[in-house]
Amino acid sequence: MASKIQYAFLLLSAVMASLFAGSAAGVYHIVGAGKGWRMAPNKTYYEDWARTRNISIGDKLMFLYRSGVYNIVEVPTKEQFDKCSMKNITNRWQNGPTIIELTQPGPLYYFCGVGKHCEEGQKLAINLCDDIIGEIVRRHFPCEVDRLAVELVCRSWRTALEPPAWAPPPQLPWIVLPEADGPAFYCVLSGCRAHPFFLPHGARRSRFFGSYDGAWLFLAVDPAQGKERDHILVNLSSFEFLDLPNMIVSLEFEREIVIAAATLSSQPTEQGCIVAGFINFYPLPQYQWLIAFWRMGDRVILRSFAEDDACMDVEDLIYSAGYFHFLTRGEHIRVSRQVIFHQFHGQQGVEEGVEVNWEVLLFQPRGDG
Ligand SMILES: *[C@@H]1O[C@H](CO)[C@@H](O)[C@H](O)[C@H]1NC(C)=O
Ligand SMILES: *[C@@H]1O[C@H](CO)[C@@H](O)[C@H](O)[C@H]1NC(C)=O
Ligand SMILES: *[C@@H]1O[C@H](CO)[C@@H](O)[C@H](O)[C@H]1NC(C)=O
Ligand SMILES: *[C@@H]1O[C@H](CO)[C@@H](O)[C@H](O)[C@H]1NC(C)=O
Repeated sequence: MASKIQYAFLLLSAVMASLFAGSAAGVYHIVGAGKGWRMAPNKTYYEDWARTRNISIGDKLMFLYRSGVYNIVEVPTKEQFDKCSMKNITNRWQNGPTIIELTQPGPLYYFCGVGKHCEEGQKLAINLCDDIIGEIVRRHFPCEVDRLAVELVCRSWRTALEPPAWAPPPQLPWIVLPEADGPAFYCVLSGCRAHPFFLPHGARRSRFFGSYDGAWLFLAVDPAQGKERDHILVNLSSFEFLDLPNMIVSLEFEREIVIAAATLSSQPTEQGCIVAGFINFYPLPQYQWLIAFWRMGDRVILRSFAEDDACMDVEDLIYSAGYFHFLTRGEHIRVSRQVIFHQFHGQQGVEEGVEVNWEVLLFQPRGDG
């Protein structure tokens, strides 16, 4: 927990730094681009120009014009701007070129106060985004983990970042590397910086046995630290942990297990999420892997599935098109068409079981030639 807060504050200082950097070195916008500030070729010329620019707080508007021929006046309201009214101007600049730094939120209205220039279209309205935190985070934090850490800092920052009316860039895959002081993950969007990675104490030598949707990692926490073997699912975005089974408990026996690989049917926080994996007993493994299904949240596995045929021993699994598919050593594919968790009356009262309807897609070599 402590390191989580530390990380948030680290980010806070990074944001503060970029806030100041942002105001010191904002983007320059040359108003009207190549045309500069002059009689507009048509009435929507400057409006069109502004629409193609992302102008925000900290940026600078550069008006290039000839003194005496053109000037710039600022008016406070849209009404006056629309009417090109000079009655209540709040600012006037007349020695070109003029650089105006945008330091405050809110709409800004400029036009040329000479002759009928304004009526002819020499006018510029700027709509500045008034949420500076949101703007900075959007510009400087393309990585989802960084944005989430910013949201953790305080409520007003959280509010600034929601609702996501903007489309964040797609999250790129992370590179997770085992390192001496615990695993770290890196992301390109974050400039290939390492993100701190929060694991339970004593999880320095975790084994990774799957991932889901780029954010969830399946981890087997190493038992060497005096803790029991533990399988967990951790969300690298939110650092949320979910428990996975460490035991198989059937009528006949109760054994500790290792999970070699696993995947999910949906987001683990969604209702009805099913996990499939292949497992083995611990510490005395079978000669082949056993397939298992359980509901997210189950603390024990009820039953495992295996075939005597070595060709049917599983090597990999994937959830695709609504079903779990298991690749076997003989390159066949076992598809679980239906996984049913049910209750029945057994020797010990109401018991739970799992039934699976299997389909096997046999690999058939073409044998050309
Ligand atoms: C206004 O003038 C610019 C530059 O000449 C041109 O690109 C734009 O299409 C014109 N807009 C209209 C509405 O005529
Ligand atoms: C303005 O911002 C959007 C979204 O961040 C971006 O797609 C677009 O390219 C930007 N436009 C300019 C002119 O920088
Ligand atoms: C100009 O400013 C005065 C006082 O600030 C205000 O009373 C008046 O309504 C303003 N006129 C216009 C056209 O906005
Ligand atoms: C975990 O990560 C996913 C990305 O796959 C994200 O959409 C989701 O909100 C996260 N879940 C939680 C509970 O934070």
